[in-house]
Amino acid sequence: RPRVFSGIQPTAGSFQLGNYLGALRNWIALQETHDAFYCVVDLHSITIAKDPEELRANTRNAAAQLLALGIDPERSTLFVQSHVAEHTQLGWVLECLTGFGEASRMTQFKDKSARQDDEHVSVGLFTYPALMASDILLYGTDVVPVGEDQRQHLELSRTLAQRFNSRFGSTFVVPDAHIPEDTARIFDLQDPTSKMSKSIPSGVVEFMEDPKRTAKKVRSAVTDNERDIRYDPENKPGVSNLLVIYSGMTGRSVAELETAYEGSGYGDLKKDLGAVLVDFLTPFQRRVAEYLDDPAELDKVLRRGAERARAVASRTLRDAYDRVGFLPPA
Ligand code: TYM
Repeated sequence: RPRVFSGIQPTAGSFQLGNYLGALRNWIALQETHDAFYCVVDLHSITIAKDPEELRANTRNAAAQLLALGIDPERSTLFVQSHVAEHTQLGWVLECLTGFGEASRMTQFKDKSARQDDEHVSVGLFTYPALMASDILLYGTDVVPVGEDQRQHLELSRTLAQRFNSRFGSTFVVPDAHIPEDTARIFDLQDPTSKMSKSIPSGVVEFMEDPKRTAKKVRSAVTDNERDIRYDPENKPGVSNLLVIYSGMTGRSVAELETAYEGSGYGDLKKDLGAVLVDFLTPFQRRVAEYLDDPAELDKVLRRGAERARAVASRTLRDAYDRVGFLPPA
């Protein structure tokens, strides 16, 4: 079976709709056909300062949400990044293969660092993509399901794999990004020209919020002054975003939705989409609560995941360290 790897930051305590439609939906689908490794990337999340208690709680929250969405720990290896030391150990080598200019061109770094003053921009935020490459390359990953905003990081992972292989001999699988065609980029409901993201929260659908609040957010989503419900991201970004979300959540195509809503108003579309999301979030949140009710069991799942991950990662690391020319430790 081909291998799939992906990661998500525990940062916020709650996933948002963009995470789900851009990536997590594919995580769940791919565990049917692939040998899956899914990781809560707590190391990545401290590139921006985090409160320790919140980080701990959010890491468990993230794991509980993944399980509640349908990640099956019997079939998939679900683990926490900091539990597998190999990630940072290979990360160092990959940092040493990454050009300063190359890292400087990462748009996510440019965006995130622009939002803070220089003293608060950590070196970790800068080297972040090399650690991400390490996550992926340690597992001999064939495919990486992510949203559009990770495309550039994936490109760098491929470059680093190829660079290492050509310098030191074939070691790493060169991974492919798996980015959805239709839902690769979900936009903010209040500002449908920027990506839905918890770091700029205005119109963000949070998976752990009160579903009534979600319905309200959808009702007050920014649209336009026309009346027709039509997919036209250029001229009607708000309505187009709602159609894409609706389609992603129901499996009905955008064209089918356009036909179904011919002659209806934006209010109808928003009311129905709100209901779709409420119906999804209500049982989801119940399942999350059940997982969080038993933190010992949750920790056991994560510990088992880390053991399985370590078994694969340690072999790759040993190989890579040997190729680089480090003396064997024993
Ligand atoms: P993160 O935690 O920001 O987001 C997790 C996943 O959600 C996707 N995503 C979106 N997709 C569509 N529309 C949106 N508005 C939207 N917002 C987020 C992201 O593309 C991502 O797939 N660097 C990664 C985490 C990471 C990782 C990895 C991913 C670390 N190591 C190795 C893959 C492989 C990140 O910060 O994702």
